[in-house]
Amino acid sequence: MAGFSDRALAIQPTGVRKMFDMAGDDVISFGLGEPDFQPPNVAINAFHQAMLAGHNKYTTTAGLPALRKRIAESWTSRCPGLDESNVCMTMSGTNALLNIFATLVNPGKNVLLPEPYFPLYGPDVELWGGETRFYQCTFENEFVPTIDHLETLVDEDTVAILYNFPSNPTGATITTEQRDELLAFAQRHDLWLITDEVYDRIVFNGEHVSFVGCDDERVILINSFSKTYAMTGWRIGYIMSANVEAMAQMIKIQYYITACSNDAMQYAVLAAIDEADDYPDEMCAEFQARRDLICSRLNAMPGVQCHVPEGAFYVFPKVEAPGMSSEDLAIELLKGGVLCSPGSAFGPSGEGHLRFAYTISREDISRGMDKVESVLNSLRNDA
Ligand SMILES: Cc1ncc(COP(=O)(O)O)c(C=O)c1O
Repeated sequence: MAGFSDRALAIQPTGVRKMFDMAGDDVISFGLGEPDFQPPNVAINAFHQAMLAGHNKYTTTAGLPALRKRIAESWTSRCPGLDESNVCMTMSGTNALLNIFATLVNPGKNVLLPEPYFPLYGPDVELWGGETRFYQCTFENEFVPTIDHLETLVDEDTVAILYNFPSNPTGATITTEQRDELLAFAQRHDLWLITDEVYDRIVFNGEHVSFVGCDDERVILINSFSKTYAMTGWRIGYIMSANVEAMAQMIKIQYYITACSNDAMQYAVLAAIDEADDYPDEMCAEFQARRDLICSRLNAMPGVQCHVPEGAFYVFPKVEAPGMSSEDLAIELLKGGVLCSPGSAFGPSGEGHLRFAYTISREDISRGMDKVESVLNSLRNDA
């Protein structure tokens, strides 16, 4: 047999899964980036009813017009004039990412990506022959990149920059001033601006700051219902852009990736948007209480510093553990009964950090933090 493609061989499994594979069933898990809630009942019922009503077929590639229209409407306060032609349903944010890079990146061109990062970004660019240039979002700058740093990375082969706020893994958000500076950078270098806003409904104080509505021809939004309606397993998301030429290209590509999204599920999502708009806010209130709890516990531990994030459901504390990598430390914590992700799984500047997803109950967070404290104490006593 002829063997495997260079691209398949070059791609590595993500470091996030590694810890999972080592974990037993009895650990307290801060590992999973998915809400521990059920999707709203109205969506589950609508899914069932849609299947009974015969919505079990291919849809048009871009998806159900009524759903796309409803999604577009939900953004028109920021970007007037959007309609269904600006939205393409995908089978998740993950699918949206692959599509966007397939559409925008030629071999030899490069894309600016955040670091620490959601681990799919780099491989997704590289699958299409693109090169990655990672910009750092440092703890010292509250996990937001500086424009001076971005300027050192961009060149004539840079075609796009991806921003992700609220961020996985840091939970960082941006102010409107920061948004405007990041937008101006993309404009100055005439880059596509890809904005991954899958956590847009999990923002704790004030409004989500979006790039949508900023520069209509440049901005391409990735969004997903995974986090918004706790539907990670349903695999449904969308791409949206006011740029109809870009949309036409991406809809064409989507046909070759999945043909279309899931028929019945699109009715379920439509029901969720129409009838359970408060649901994400209820989840968000619970996440905020958990965030307060986990941050106050972590910040009370010697050698641990944790920003209080304004969005998503992750904390990314800096943890002192002399002589140990973040992976060594995560393994020690696992032995002590707690699963979390080493910061290095999200890129080299994540070294010295751990990621905790607070997607478990407050009781479990408290029990988990007791264990973290006791492992860190015993490491310090042994040192
Ligand atoms: C920043 C970010 N973008 C995109 C995704 C993809 O989400 P999904 O494929 O479930 O829609 C995730 C999932 O964890 C994420 O954290």
